[in-house]
Amino acid sequence: MTRWNNGLDEVERVSEDITDETNALPAQYFTDREVHEMEKEKVFGRYWIYAGHANCVPEPGDHFTRTIGDSELIVVRDHEGEVRAYYNVCAHRGSAMVEETPMTDPGNARRIRCPYHLWTYDLDGSLTNTPKSFEDARLNPDLEDGEVAELDADRNALLEVRSDRIGPFVFVNLHDDPPLSLEEQAGAMKDELEALPLGEYQLARRYVSEVECNWKVFGGNYSECDHCQANHQEWVEGLELMDSELEVDDYHWVLHYKHKEDVDDEVRIHDEHEAKFYYFWPNFTVNMYGTANGYGTYIIDPIDENRFQLVADYYFQDSELSDEEAEFVRTSRQLQEEDFELVERQQRGLESGAIAQAQLGPNEHTVHRLHLLAQEAYEA
Ligand code: FES
Ligand SMILES: [Fe+2]
Repeated sequence: MTRWNNGLDEVERVSEDITDETNALPAQYFTDREVHEMEKEKVFGRYWIYAGHANCVPEPGDHFTRTIGDSELIVVRDHEGEVRAYYNVCAHRGSAMVEETPMTDPGNARRIRCPYHLWTYDLDGSLTNTPKSFEDARLNPDLEDGEVAELDADRNALLEVRSDRIGPFVFVNLHDDPPLSLEEQAGAMKDELEALPLGEYQLARRYVSEVECNWKVFGGNYSECDHCQANHQEWVEGLELMDSELEVDDYHWVLHYKHKEDVDDEVRIHDEHEAKFYYFWPNFTVNMYGTANGYGTYIIDPIDENRFQLVADYYFQDSELSDEEAEFVRTSRQLQEEDFELVERQQRGLESGAIAQAQLGPNEHTVHRLHLLAQEAYEA
């Protein structure tokens, strides 16, 4: 049915929509700069996006930054113990205030202070202090000191970003009026994850990789294992690949894999003898491992139309890795490296202009779900 471009200048879709399960999202959606720009609003400005892990900011004033699309955010634990998010933008003249601070090395501050003219905000976002120069008008002959209006602390507060949580996972939504609550977007995944003691595990390792492909190419690769036999030979040795299952929900899907050897339940976070991989639209995954007492997350952040950053975080009971855990992380890294090769090669093909629209196999309905959600977002 698909798919060659046949030398046409304009790449056309094979079908008007992609409701047929064998139709992938047309290739141009993986290669165009305009699509990347559009996604900042239609995807990353609309859905709930993972911001980070609440355990990384245990004390009031602990904070990290997170960039989503063009928006820089500060995620901070306030004095009441709530984790909140603000735009990293000063209410005075719009300066960014906090330098990039990764979740792996959070900052701590009793107040958020803008370095430009030292406006200072409480952790609840309210303006608490401005320097003397905002109260007197000594350099302005047109004004008496008494005429200087007092700054309204609330109206000059930091702009807060809506946030919500699934267990320790903090999500933000940049939309003024989000079309879905986090609960609606997460569906059954929220209850499933909240039934696990995710908060008892600590961030032990983070690996950040820049990969030369569109973020959805990697998302699709994560969502199927038809490529595993050929490309992850070492890993599949320990799996009953034929027993794997794919479960598809509205905004997430779960890949279940069975390990050949039973693993002692005492050393597992979840109680079935399987590994579970959750893909949560648009760019977050939760990785429940079959052979280690821990879990991981991926953040699949677009950089531009043909590059993304994979942030792979590993959570174990403490940050010291046992030999088994270190071995586990090594295997996981190997899987990533193997996948990076595949997705970069696929991106090259998509960019060649030869293919207008790929086709999907019968076990790639999870990939189709990802593409369908993208199309839905673009058309909303
Ligand atoms: S821009 Fe922040 S204090 Fe002036
Ligand atoms: Fe893979």
